[in-house]
Amino acid sequence: MTDPLRLGIAGLGTVGTGTVRIIRQKANLLAARAGRPIEITAVSARSRDKDRGVNLSGYAWEDDPVALAQRDDVDVFVELMGGSDGPAKAATEAAIAAGKDVVTANKALLAHHGHALALAAEAAGRVIRFEAAVAGGIPVIKALTEGLAGNDITRVMGVMNGTCNYILTRMQSAGLPYAEVFEEANQLGYLEADPTLDVGGIDAGHKLSLLAAIAFGTQVDFDAVELEGIEKITIEDIHHAADMGYRIKLLGVCQMTGRGLEQRMSPCLVPDNSPLGQLEGGTNMCVLEGDNVEQIVLRGPGAGMGPTASAVMGDVMDIARGFRMPVFGQPATGLERAKPARAVTPAPYYLRLALEDKPGAMAKVAAVLGEAGVSIDRMRQYQHNESAAPVLMVTHKTTRAALDIALAAMSRLDVMTAEPVALRIESV
Ligand code: NAP
Ligand code: HSE
Repeated sequence: MTDPLRLGIAGLGTVGTGTVRIIRQKANLLAARAGRPIEITAVSARSRDKDRGVNLSGYAWEDDPVALAQRDDVDVFVELMGGSDGPAKAATEAAIAAGKDVVTANKALLAHHGHALALAAEAAGRVIRFEAAVAGGIPVIKALTEGLAGNDITRVMGVMNGTCNYILTRMQSAGLPYAEVFEEANQLGYLEADPTLDVGGIDAGHKLSLLAAIAFGTQVDFDAVELEGIEKITIEDIHHAADMGYRIKLLGVCQMTGRGLEQRMSPCLVPDNSPLGQLEGGTNMCVLEGDNVEQIVLRGPGAGMGPTASAVMGDVMDIARGFRMPVFGQPATGLERAKPARAVTPAPYYLRLALEDKPGAMAKVAAVLGEAGVSIDRMRQYQHNESAAPVLMVTHKTTRAALDIALAAMSRLDVMTAEPVALRIESV
């Protein structure tokens, strides 16, 4: 097979220009590895006049990404615009209908429409590849679908949003409050145009739902991901967690349980000496567990021009080499919708309470916990300030339902001066 593989690239922002750069700078290397040249025939973006720092003069221009997707001289439609609907969805559907393979970095599109798009692509004999959509430069989709194909996957975990990990680790290292570090991240250009996608856990939840579908052979079900963002994490929580040997991470976890598929993206405590606990800055980490391999840990850059374009090119190269695979690793027609687990797996929890520093206060809290069946493992009281004494507890393993009963009862106690904070401690 020596015909060139002809790409149409829609979206010339961070990832799109990175992809163009690699194809221009490494043409010989890519051709040698693929056994055929990789060429760009046409591109699309909103503004034709913008200087993007790459030479686009040899490529046809389309204002409309749908028209780009339908061009006869395009074999692979590379969707790097973003957005769960609108032009990204319309152009991806048009590409499949026109008989093109698709490469995309768009987790939002696939989290919301992945199953329908996979059905359409496979019915048309086309592939959709999306390595860049999850954990940027880390080849986690390849690891799950190919390297770990001989395993029953038991659990997938990870830190999949670099911005949140930057915020949490910067709060810790600089001792700064959330609002100040959020603003710093904003100034550095780390935040998505809609920052709630990052700090609300939505972007990472999109990624987790894609990994869950592959790992457990189910339809993508983003709506079933239990989401909690990092907005309520205080510098005190970070310091107290550190005092007790933990770090706080926005952690995604998916696992198939007897109660159904558990998918959650939430701030959790992890041991500070674990690989996840040691993860600093905007780096991502994926922890994959299988019955035969036990555990593997993948760590790397989760965003940025080079890393994300690197992942896009991995997919392009597979297509150029003739390697084809169902979108989620198994034919989409056979994928069932998993029953979502109504309750999460029991775990120990970190509790931060603000108590009036007076006789009997702690006894009331202990009674409430005892009545709900929640057992205390460790406890610390810090020096009281003018209004309250901060009390930290680590519980023994408990159900979230029991904990919620205890938290609701605690909120009603006359000795509590603020709402209790509860964070799950994940065993990693
Ligand atoms: P970006 O820098 O904002 O670039 C988006 C590009 O899409 C721009 O070139 C824009 O055109 C173009 N575009 C938007 N609407 C369009 C339309 N209607 N028609 C034609 N072109 C349109 O975004 P990005 O950071 O490269 O992200 C692209 C995709 O990669 C997203 O799905 C994102 O979630 C994903 N991703 C990004 C990263 C990262 O590190 N940036 C990492 C992983 C995944 P103009 O330039 O003319 O405005
Ligand atoms: N906003 C995302 C992050 C970009 O911070 O990880 C990469 O998907």
